[in-house]
Amino acid sequence: MTKVLIDCDPGIDDAMALALAAGAPGIELVAITTVGGNVDLSLTTANALALREFLDLGDIPVTPGSAGALLHRTVRAGDIHGDTGLGGAVLPAPLLAVSEGHAVDRIIDTLRAAPGEITLVAIGPLTNIALAVRREPRIVEWARDLVIMGGSFTRGNHNPAAEFNMLADPEAAAIVFEAGWTVKMLGLDVTLTAVVTSAVLDRMRPLGRLAELLVPAAQFYGAVTDLAGPAIHDACAVAYVMDPSLVTMVPAVVNVEVIGEYTRGMTVVDFRLRERRANALVATGLDAGRFWDVVLGAYVRLAERLG
Ligand code: BDR
Ligand code: CA
Repeated sequence: MTKVLIDCDPGIDDAMALALAAGAPGIELVAITTVGGNVDLSLTTANALALREFLDLGDIPVTPGSAGALLHRTVRAGDIHGDTGLGGAVLPAPLLAVSEGHAVDRIIDTLRAAPGEITLVAIGPLTNIALAVRREPRIVEWARDLVIMGGSFTRGNHNPAAEFNMLADPEAAAIVFEAGWTVKMLGLDVTLTAVVTSAVLDRMRPLGRLAELLVPAAQFYGAVTDLAGPAIHDACAVAYVMDPSLVTMVPAVVNVEVIGEYTRGMTVVDFRLRERRANALVATGLDAGRFWDVVLGAYVRLAERLG
């Protein structure tokens, strides 16, 4: 069993990633922390609370964190994820409240309590992770792994240069890449191939209650993208934890541009490794066919539990 803490900004694809973690046979989700990102922190937290109960995650802590970026103005993606952040999906109001404290402390305390055991999966802006690493640098050694959805070595999505999670807090991303661990980076280069095609959507429709989340969320997401369907970026990070052989990873030095007028938030990925040792393993390929078998297998397993 891999113990996982997910730091997220749900977010349609964050919701699909949480559903994947909930259904994954080899993952024990130990905590959820939230960050302002796709929508405001109040909404990402409300969505995480609703998802915890909808996905039958028991009473694992949901702890809110940073509302905005470390230094600069807030960037949001409500046009992609809808006003609530969950597109067309409407979940029952949750009964349980948030946990006491701040996400940064939750991250530090969870890792301190189980050194070498917890994999951090960060699928929103990296504000909480950067603050945690500044406050307690030993989390770099305590984390079993840090897997992020973010960046790219070929393109942006929020603008031509920058991927959303990086653009939303470039300084935080720079801190995280410079912290001393080997960041597992799943960027747009691979996540844009994880597309909910109409054939995939057809495989989601019979999933009972779970389909009430997946189908309207995917349909909303699909309607605002120009691909053959929505790319569920964040689920790629969880799928990588489930089965690393789904993804080709290549060592690289990743720097985050924090100054450029047109390139702020861009991840500059150097595969040549001439001047520095690698600070990241960067995803360069995804076996999309097998990805969907793994993802839908976990969704079926979860759907059987949810009814
Ligand atoms: C990333 O940005 C957000 O809109 C998604 O949730 C994902 O984490 C994709 O660029
Ligand atoms: Ca996200």
